[in-house]
Amino acid sequence: MDINSLKTQIDADIEKIDSPAALEEVRVKYLGRKGLIAQLTSSIPGLPQEQRKTFGQEVNELKARILSLLDEKQKSIAGKKELSPSYSDISLPGLAQDLGHLHPITQITNEICAIFSRMGFIIIEGPEVETEYNNFTGLNIPLEHPSRDVFDTFYLNTPKSNTQKLLLRSHTSPVQIRVMKSRKPPLAVVVPGRVYRPDAVDASHSFMFHQIEGFMVDEGIKFSHLKGVLEVFAKSVFGEDIKMRFRPHFFPFTEPSAEVDISCAICRGKGCSSCGRKGWLEILGAGMIHPNVFKHVGYDPKKYTGFAFGMGVDRIAMLKFGINDIRLFYENDLRFLKQF
Ligand code: DAH
Repeated sequence: MDINSLKTQIDADIEKIDSPAALEEVRVKYLGRKGLIAQLTSSIPGLPQEQRKTFGQEVNELKARILSLLDEKQKSIAGKKELSPSYSDISLPGLAQDLGHLHPITQITNEICAIFSRMGFIIIEGPEVETEYNNFTGLNIPLEHPSRDVFDTFYLNTPKSNTQKLLLRSHTSPVQIRVMKSRKPPLAVVVPGRVYRPDAVDASHSFMFHQIEGFMVDEGIKFSHLKGVLEVFAKSVFGEDIKMRFRPHFFPFTEPSAEVDISCAICRGKGCSSCGRKGWLEILGAGMIHPNVFKHVGYDPKKYTGFAFGMGVDRIAMLKFGINDIRLFYENDLRFLKQF
């Protein structure tokens, strides 16, 4: 075999290499287990004695030459990779960071709190683990009162040393008790937060959901103040042409009490499947704070009056965004959440 013509062939092959894959191909062709060098080496024993030594040396030199040429080539294509325009195309779009955003419930909560804050209300939060007293008794819901039934749940194992039973609050109203016990009127407060109920989960119920409580206490507060404040709220959230109505209702902690409806934001009051053909949707409960609540917190009910209201944030978010299943808020499905 003519070593010189092999050299020419090898040089040409290595010269042509322009990628790591091509480099590997040439390496295998010459240095692989069945490559040229291996074949030449295994042919040595079959040569006449006097040729073996020189031929062996020539094969070794050839191998060293291939190794060094491949090494050089590897360095040159690695350098090329950094400089090559195909590897740094500045016209390609950048690698954008995926930005998160606030959950739709948090967005609506913030929006509603901002509306009340513009009217002078301050925002206060309370604990989700509440005493039985604040959740019920202080709010004029005594032990045997039937209206406890639907809420009376999620009690926690309370140490014997605790005089009060603890539970996950069933509404945000207990924060009224906390705030009124620690501050003096005048008060205008909104309280956003999570609440817990023993409701079976379906399209419109969840065992955990969100409320915003609001209340105002001072001398001379009237039902008309409540109406005015709620009207500003409803128009800011649902638009100027939304209508409101107050239906008489019962809540132990307010007297008189009302449930408040808005004209259906979807059919504008005409009646559709979202509002059960009624044209109206209930969005909150409200009323004048019961004198017994004032007695529990040590306010003089002859001196002070006040109003209170409580709304379901999930419900309002569903109406505003046209969402028909409350469970969507709690499944962490990005395909849903990214739409807001
Ligand atoms: N706490 C009531 C509930 O969870 C909502 C409510 C109704 C709050 C009337 C109030 C109110 O402050 O005056 O159903």
